Amino acid sequence: MFNFDTSTDRQNSNSEKYTKKQKLFGTNDITPLWVADMDIDTPPFVVDAMTDRLKHPVLGYEGVPHSMYQAQISWLHRRYGAKFDIDDMLYSPSVVASIGTAIEAFSDIGDNIIIQTPVYPQFFNSIKRYKREVLDNPLVQKPDGSWTMDIPNLISQIDKKTKLLILCNPHNPVGRSWHKDELEQLLDVCVQYNIIVFSDEIHGDLVYAPHTHTVFAGINDKAKDITISAFGVGKTFNLAGISTSTVAIPNQNLKDKFMEVYNKIHFAQGSILSHVAFEMAYKYGDIWLDELKVHLWQNYLSLKNLCEKYPQYIKLTPIEATYLAWIDCRGIDKNSKQIEKFFILKAKLGLSRGIFFGKSGSGFMRLNFAISKEAMTKVIARLDTALSELSRVHINL
Ligand SMILES: Cc1ncc(COP(=O)(O)O)c(C=O)c1O
Repeated sequence: MFNFDTSTDRQNSNSEKYTKKQKLFGTNDITPLWVADMDIDTPPFVVDAMTDRLKHPVLGYEGVPHSMYQAQISWLHRRYGAKFDIDDMLYSPSVVASIGTAIEAFSDIGDNIIIQTPVYPQFFNSIKRYKREVLDNPLVQKPDGSWTMDIPNLISQIDKKTKLLILCNPHNPVGRSWHKDELEQLLDVCVQYNIIVFSDEIHGDLVYAPHTHTVFAGINDKAKDITISAFGVGKTFNLAGISTSTVAIPNQNLKDKFMEVYNKIHFAQGSILSHVAFEMAYKYGDIWLDELKVHLWQNYLSLKNLCEKYPQYIKLTPIEATYLAWIDCRGIDKNSKQIEKFFILKAKLGLSRGIFFGKSGSGFMRLNFAISKEAMTKVIARLDTALSELSRVHINL
């Protein structure tokens, strides 16, 4: 029903992906494949509903409508079998703001907070900003190139000051959709050591068959009792610009603690247009999302084919989720700056440097493949030309 062959040009639309090209890559002459939003049009039924709302000429204060939360609760239940009540849900303008709120609510200065690198950089940035300590339990790479959690290493590092774990579920940038048995192991550790879990599930809808998303709090009652979950439409429906997500906290004690900080900051109620967009996306977005995932998977496969042509230079991490490819580029050069230079100068592509995601990301690049079929064909062609040149002559980077 929906067409992902082409997309609307975002140049001159104040898109951050484009306005920051010069600053981040030193040139405007690149295709930006960095920040995690899509160069794919937001679903038309969402944009239409927002346009429709503007027919009423008054845009005064409004509370978050129950129907908005209800649409999300129904979505989480029908797609993942997870059950939440309206009373569990809170509005948030950003997952990163929710992470900060949880850090302040559930830990003190100097406490340890667990993350598993390589990971979305705002996890460790937030911990440091709040003057807490990062307790890193690095993910481990398996022989097939995929990544896994190291539970024994985690247990060996936990101490009395370890209060919170920030889980990336699914995991940006390594593209894992954590399997239920892996999450159960993590849950057992957190229950045993009294560790609260912040489960960031912002990429949860972007899991490819045969894999399915497991909502951490949906595993069982114990999980529900210790988890703050973050859900949203930002990644799924390309709605990051409406700044609207939710936090689900079924445990009343945890909710009260979270609310103390939340109310101090005054998160307010979101914008009128965001309420409409959020509700429409969850009410009517199933087919659009299912078709989007078929398209994204095709993009991933075309990148995989290309990588398999040049195994001496690039190795693509097998993924189960997200539209982010995690590419081992150590065959191009040992130095990550040089690798980035290759992508900018030779392929004219602006990727995210792996080192931004933690030490173990060194030598990797993250490529956002959420683009139209037409754009993906161009990206593959550019990369192919640059890599074949690399294999023919020694390029001085
Ligand atoms: C794992 C993860 N969490 C949170 C965010 C950002 O969410 P928000 O824009 O709602 O703060 C991103 C964006 O890339 C992300 O990848």
